[in-house]
Amino acid sequence: MPDYKIAPSILSADFARLGEEVDAVLAAGADWVHFDVMDNHYVPNLTIGPMVCSALRKHGVEAPIDVHLMVEPVDEMIRMFADAGATTITFHPEASRHVDRSLQLIRSLGCKAGLVFNPATGLDAAKYVMDKLDMILLMSVNPGFGGQKFIPATLDKLREARTLIDDSGLDIRLEIDGGVTCGNIAEIAAAGADTFVAGSAIFSAKDYAEVISAMRRELAK
Ligand code: DX5
Ligand code: ZN
Repeated sequence: MPDYKIAPSILSADFARLGEEVDAVLAAGADWVHFDVMDNHYVPNLTIGPMVCSALRKHGVEAPIDVHLMVEPVDEMIRMFADAGATTITFHPEASRHVDRSLQLIRSLGCKAGLVFNPATGLDAAKYVMDKLDMILLMSVNPGFGGQKFIPATLDKLREARTLIDDSGLDIRLEIDGGVTCGNIAEIAAAGADTFVAGSAIFSAKDYAEVISAMRRELAK
């Protein structure tokens, strides 16, 4: 079985109690914290920045923080998030003028680097920078909001990305983000994903541990 990771998106958490929510979801068995950064420019919504990331580190969060930048431009935010304790930083290739340079910047600051592909965007931008990637993230909804439905065409794209990664022989994770539930996670894993972001499916539940274990049971099938 692949080394599956479950990364709850705190976009769906109760922001008035963010520290407690992150503690609760990690105690419930989550592997990573998925941290959605929106700027009301690249996407039509506004969320949280580096101060919140460093506040979580100060609060005592030791788990990997997976920063998903939905901002444009990216380089200054990369610097600030690396400083704020991010583990992985991913960005959308259309939001950087110099994708290769932005990827190098992330690694030079000691973080893991990844590219994010919107539902309609092909994987071309990954092809020539595979050696600079630790992760490929496929959006299975249009970025900007939690609680949307999984776009089924993403399954074919996951298979394509899986082949690209396997053919490269490199150690690159394949993450999926948007509309992941207990009902579709097995099919998503079968298509090649090994890292699963889930926001509303986890945070709308009363018992986070129950959802996360149900997801793991599906993954073990
Ligand atoms: C959307 C974000 C996602 C989102 C996932 O732009 O990148 O991380 O919060 O939420 P759900 O799981 O509710 O689709
Ligand atoms: Zn995200």
